[in-house]
Amino acid sequence: MESKIILGVDIGGTGIKGALVDTSTGKAVTDRIRIETPQPASPEAVADTVNILIKEIGYKGSIIGCGFPAIIHNGVAKSASNIDESWIGVDAEKLFSKKTGKEVFVLNDADAAGIAEVHFGRLKGASGVSILLTLGTGIGSAVFINGQLVPNTEFGHLYLKDHKKIVEKYASNSVRKRKDLDYEEWIMRLNELLNHLGHIFSPSNIVLGGGISKKFDDYEKYFDDFEFKLKPAKLLNHAGLIGAAIYGMEKSKNLIGQES
Ligand code: BGC
Repeated sequence: MESKIILGVDIGGTGIKGALVDTSTGKAVTDRIRIETPQPASPEAVADTVNILIKEIGYKGSIIGCGFPAIIHNGVAKSASNIDESWIGVDAEKLFSKKTGKEVFVLNDADAAGIAEVHFGRLKGASGVSILLTLGTGIGSAVFINGQLVPNTEFGHLYLKDHKKIVEKYASNSVRKRKDLDYEEWIMRLNELLNHLGHIFSPSNIVLGGGISKKFDDYEKYFDDFEFKLKPAKLLNHAGLIGAAIYGMEKSKNLIGQES
């Protein structure tokens, strides 16, 4: 019988994570391995690190799904905010496939996390407009309409009123840590983004992901009252690699076509 166990990889600004995922249950079937993202995070260096990850996990399968922190159009990186600039224009799918000798399918990291939440997490069965935000080195976003992904949204790059920088530069989790903001100060910044998204999208749900989502109970009280439901991601910081594995499996079966 064909295997549903696929290696999911989540490339982030600070760490590259991977685990084998059972795509029929959405569960990681091995421990999550994390390797520091090489600096500078050039295409060659990142591809070498993915190879080390594969060896450490001992993956023998042929398909890999990989989340990447940039706009990804048909496997090609179209931006580079928390990764080396030399990625822009690089066909990440081709590069990783060549380096690893496997078939690698690449998508935006937040889109990957969203796919996991739609299949097995907080957005399972959600109808209408749902948004997932990943709070990490940057702020990533994924938008779903009745469970269908609208790929490559970049809500972390919105300019909000009275600010001279994009929102991820003052409201991401890495900024919270760097500036030593307490939860109240940090959530006041995030409230600006959430109110804005609520106003222009009228979503039914907004889900917050990234490692900090597991502390949701500690800062929930600082959020404004919203018209939408606000919840932490269910798959926490595994969502990215689980969604990447699901994407890899669906792409390898041609269930998702090329964008033209
Ligand atoms: C990137 C997005 C990415 C997000 C989270 C942003 O800076 O532009 O593509 O999803 O960081 O990694």
